[in-house]
Amino acid sequence: MSTFDPNLPSTNEAGAVRESDAHSLSVGANGPLLLHDVNLVEKLARFDRERIPERSPHAKGSGAFGELRVTEDVSKYTKAKLFQKGQKTPMLARFSTVAGELGSPDTWRDVRGFALKFYTEEGNYDIVGNNTPIFFLRDPMKFPDFIHSQKRLPDSGLRDATMQWDFWTLSPESAHQVAYLMGPRGLPKTWRHMNGYSSHTYMWVNEAGEKSWVKYHFHTQQGVEYLSNEEATRIAGEDADAHRKDLFDAIKNGEFPKWDVSVQIMPYEDAKTYRFNPFDLTKTWSKKDYPLIKVGEFELNQNPVNHFAQIEQAAFSPSNLVPGIGFSPDKMLLGRVFSYPDAQRNRLGTNYNQLPVNRPVNDQNTYSKEGAMEFFHSGDAPVYAPNSFGRAYQDEQGVVDNGWESDGDMVRSAYTLHAEDDDFGQAGTLVREVFSDEEREEFVNTVAGALDGVIEPVLSRAFEYWKNVDQEIGERIEKAVKANAGADEVPGSLQ
Ligand code: HEM
Repeated sequence: MSTFDPNLPSTNEAGAVRESDAHSLSVGANGPLLLHDVNLVEKLARFDRERIPERSPHAKGSGAFGELRVTEDVSKYTKAKLFQKGQKTPMLARFSTVAGELGSPDTWRDVRGFALKFYTEEGNYDIVGNNTPIFFLRDPMKFPDFIHSQKRLPDSGLRDATMQWDFWTLSPESAHQVAYLMGPRGLPKTWRHMNGYSSHTYMWVNEAGEKSWVKYHFHTQQGVEYLSNEEATRIAGEDADAHRKDLFDAIKNGEFPKWDVSVQIMPYEDAKTYRFNPFDLTKTWSKKDYPLIKVGEFELNQNPVNHFAQIEQAAFSPSNLVPGIGFSPDKMLLGRVFSYPDAQRNRLGTNYNQLPVNRPVNDQNTYSKEGAMEFFHSGDAPVYAPNSFGRAYQDEQGVVDNGWESDGDMVRSAYTLHAEDDDFGQAGTLVREVFSDEEREEFVNTVAGALDGVIEPVLSRAFEYWKNVDQEIGERIEKAVKANAGADEVPGSLQ
C-alpha cells in the first residue's frame, strides 16, 4: 500500500502542509530553536525511531513476490487447496544468512534461509526452511545456545571459532549439518542458484482423512552453483549485498527465477519402523526409499517496491498451517511454532499480522483485538465467544484430523533410536559419497581454515568429531590444521 503522490507538497503526519523541509524555526537567524516547531520535532522524533529490532537469527536477507503453480495431482495425499492441480497461489520468498547481522556480507559461509509464504484462500501457509535438508540440532532447548555460539563473544563483541566449535563438538548431532555447512552449500553462488528444503517432516491429510508424512524439496531451475572460498571472500569485500542485488537485478531484467516443487511422501505407518527416526531433523530420508514426487513449480517475478515494508516487516512462521497439513512429532518444529509469532510480536508489534505483507488474502473473523496499532477491527460485533448475537465461532471437538498418537509418560529424553540412527553416519555418507574428490579437498581446507585459532580442549575434540564422521577425512583435517599452525609459528621460514 503506497500513498506516494510526487506532486503533493510535503505534509506532516497529521496531513498539514509543512512550511519547510530545510529550515528550523529559530529566534532570529542565529537564535535558539523553538519547541513548538512541531515539524522539526516530528522529523527528529521519527528519525530516532526508524530502526526496529533485526531478526534474532537470519537478520540479513531479501526477497521477492511470485506465484506457486501446481501442475501435478497430489490430492491422494493432501486436501490442502493450494496443492490441488491447476491451482495458482501468490507468494513471497525471503532468503537470508543465519548468523550475520543486518549489514553483514551475503557471501560469508553460512546456511541460507529459504522462507516461503503462500497467500492461500484458506489462510497463509508458510514453509520456513533452509538450503540444507537437515539441521544442527534435534531439540529446541538447545537452539538459543546454538545461536549464541555462532554470534559474538560477550567481552570483545567478536565472532569466535573456539565458541562455535566448542558448541558443535559437544553436540555431536550437529555433524551432518556442519558437514553441509563446510561443504559447497555453505557458499551458494547466488540465492537463485540454490535449492531449498522444508527440512522438517510435516503431515499431509487427504479428503478421506488418510495421513502421510511429507518433506518438501525446492530444486532450482537455474542450476546449483557455488562460490570458492576465495571468490566468496573477495565478493564479501567488494559488495556485501551481492546476493540481494543479484535477485533484485534478475527480476528487474525479466529473468524470473524458478524452482521445482517436489515432496517425499512416507506412509503414516512407516514412521515407526523406518531405519532413521523420520522426525529427527538431523537426518534425511533416502530418495531410494521415498523418491521425489513432483508437485509443481514456483516463480519469483515481482520485486518489493519498499524493502522495509515488504521484506523487513515480513513475518514468516512455521505455525502458519492450512487444512490438509499438520505438524509432526519433530521437536524442533514444535518449538518453532511458539518461537516465531512470539519473536514477531516483539520485533514488529502485537498487530503484525495486520500489515499488508502479512495479512491473509481471505476474510478473517478473529476474536483477537486491540493492542498497539490495531488497524483492522470488527466494529461493534460481539467481542466474546460463545455469544448469542450472531457472530460465528468454532467449537470442533474430538480427535483432530492432523494429529498423531502420543506414546507414554512425560519425559525429558532423546528420540527413540531407529536401526541406523547415530550422529555421524549420514554425515560420513555425505562427505564420502556425495562430495566429489575436488569438493572433499576443498572441504578439508575449509574445515582446517575454520579451525584456525581454536584452542584446547576444543581443537582435539574437533579432530575426534571429524574422525567419527570419517577416519581418513578427520586425519587429513588434523594434518592440515597442524601444517597451518606450523606455518603461522615460523612466518617467513623456508621449512
Ligand atoms: C528466523 C527461531 C530453527 C529457518 C528465525 C527467527 C526466530 C527463529 C526467532 C526470527 C523470526 C522473526 O523475527 O521474524 C528458531 C528456533 C528454532 C529455529 C527457536 C529451533 C527450535 C530453524 C530451522 C530452520 C529455520 C530448523 C530451517 C529449517 C529460519 C529462517 C528464518 C528464521 C529461514 C528467517 C525467516 C525470514 O526470512 O523472515 N528463527 N529457529 N529456523 N529461521 Fe529459525
